Amino acid sequence: MKASIRVSKDNIVSKIDDRIYSSFVEHMGRAIYTGIYEPDHPTADEFGFRKDVMDLVRPLNLSHIRYPGGNFLSGYRWKDGIGPKEERPARLDLAWFQIEPNLVGTDEFLRWCERLGVEPMLAVNLGTGTPQDAADLVEYVNGTTPTYYAQLRARNGHKEPYNVKLWCLGNEMDGPWQICGKTAEEYGRIAHETAKMMKWIDPDIELVACGSSNTSMKTYGEWEKTVLKHCYQDVNYVSLHSYYRNDDHDNPTFLASNIDMENMIQYIGSICKQAKLEQKGDHDVYLSFDEWNVWYHYSTEQTPPEKWVVGRAIDQEDYDDVDTLVVGTLMNALIRNADMVKISCFAQLINVIAPITTEPGGRAYVRTIYKPLMYASNFGRGTSIKPIVDAPTYDCKLYKDVSFLDSAVVLCDDGSLSVFVVNRNENEDAELTLDFTGISEYKNAEVMTIRGMDTVTEKADVSGNCLSTKLLPLSWNLIRLS
Ligand code: AHR
Repeated sequence: MKASIRVSKDNIVSKIDDRIYSSFVEHMGRAIYTGIYEPDHPTADEFGFRKDVMDLVRPLNLSHIRYPGGNFLSGYRWKDGIGPKEERPARLDLAWFQIEPNLVGTDEFLRWCERLGVEPMLAVNLGTGTPQDAADLVEYVNGTTPTYYAQLRARNGHKEPYNVKLWCLGNEMDGPWQICGKTAEEYGRIAHETAKMMKWIDPDIELVACGSSNTSMKTYGEWEKTVLKHCYQDVNYVSLHSYYRNDDHDNPTFLASNIDMENMIQYIGSICKQAKLEQKGDHDVYLSFDEWNVWYHYSTEQTPPEKWVVGRAIDQEDYDDVDTLVVGTLMNALIRNADMVKISCFAQLINVIAPITTEPGGRAYVRTIYKPLMYASNFGRGTSIKPIVDAPTYDCKLYKDVSFLDSAVVLCDDGSLSVFVVNRNENEDAELTLDFTGISEYKNAEVMTIRGMDTVTEKADVSGNCLSTKLLPLSWNLIRLS
C-alpha cells in the first residue's frame, strides 16, 4: 500500500512533558519481593536491591515511578514500612490476597529511586487511610520542621527531606474491588480535605485526583464531574487508567485500541476544561494517564497461585509481537495528546504486567514491549507535532476507517526529528513518503524497526524535504532525521 506522512509546524501540539515517560511499581505479585528487592540474590546491593534489575530499568530513561499502588494502596499502613526491619509487622494484603512483610517501604523505595536517578510519584491511602495519615506521610517524606515525623525520617537514616513533588490522592476509588471504595461525593470530599492538609505541610506538591477506574464504570464521566466539583482548586491532574485485551484474537480491532485511549483523553480532558469554567479555576487541571498497558494473557491462560504467601506470582503477563505494536500505538496516542496528558505511567514495571521479568535467584530479562517504551522515552523528548497521515483504512469490530498507519512525531530538543510509525496492516508493506518541508534541512535518516526482540536499523533515502522507505507488515518503526 502507498502512504504518506506530512509533518508541518502548523500542527504543533505542545511541548511534551517528560513525565509521560514514567512507570509504576506496586506491592503486587512479585513486583517488589523477588522483583526489585531480593537480598539473597547474587547481584543484590547493600540495601537488597537487585542490580541486574536496575541495569534493565535504567535504559528506559524513566522520568517518574508511581508507588506503592494500585489497589494495594487502599489498605496500606505506611507506618508499618519504616524503621528497623525486624520490628516491622507482616500484614494481610486484602487487595491481592498475599502477605505483605513490609521489608520494603517508603524509605527503601525512595532510595531505590535515588539510585536509579528517577523521580518518585507517591500515593496516599484514601481507602482505609485518613487525611491525618496522608499528612503524616508528607511530613515524613518532605518535612523540614523539628517535629515528630520529619525527625523520625532523619532517625531512620535520611536527614534531608526527599522533596517528593508528585502525589496521588488514592487509587481507583470508584471500583467495587477497592478496599473501602467510595462514591464520587465521598471521595471528592475526602480528597479535598486531605489535599488541604498535605498542601499546608508542603505547598509545593502537585496532586492527582482519582478519575474513573475505566470506561466501563457506570459513573464514567459523572465521577470526574462530581470529584472536580469538590477538589478542582486542590488538584493539578485527574488520573485515567486503561488496559487493553485481545480475548477474541481479533488483531485488527486490538491494534486499534488507541482510539479508545484518545477518546478517553478527549472526553475527560473536556470535563477538566468545563470544570475550570464552572469552578472559576485559577489553574488548568491536566491528565495523568497513570496506568496503561495490555493485560489479558494471564487472566485467560493461567490459574492463580495459592493465596497468603509473600510475592504471590500473579499477573506475570507474557507479551507477544502484536502486544508490542499495541503498546507502541498507545504510546503514540499519549505523545499526540501532549497538550492534555502531562503524566503517563505504563503499568507496571517489574514482573506484574511488565516489560521486565525476574527469576527468583536467577536472571532478569526484558519482554517484547520493553523496546517501544525505551525508544519512545529516549527519542521522544521535545515538541509533539500532529502528523498528517494519508494511508488506506480498514473497518474492524469496534471502529470504521482505521488508518493502517499510526504515527506520532517529535521535534526533539536537539533539533532532530523522530517519527514513530506502526504499520497495522497484517499483509502489506507501507511504501511511505515522509514530507518534512519547513521543519529543517535534514541530511541523515535511519529507520529502526523492531522485529521480535531485535531492532534492525537501516539508512533511508532523503531527497530534498522528503524521505522514502518501506515499512513491513505489522511493524513498529522509528524514523530518525538529523
Ligand atoms: O496495575 C494493576 C492494578 O490495576 C492496579 O492495582 C489497579 O489500580 C488497577 O486496577
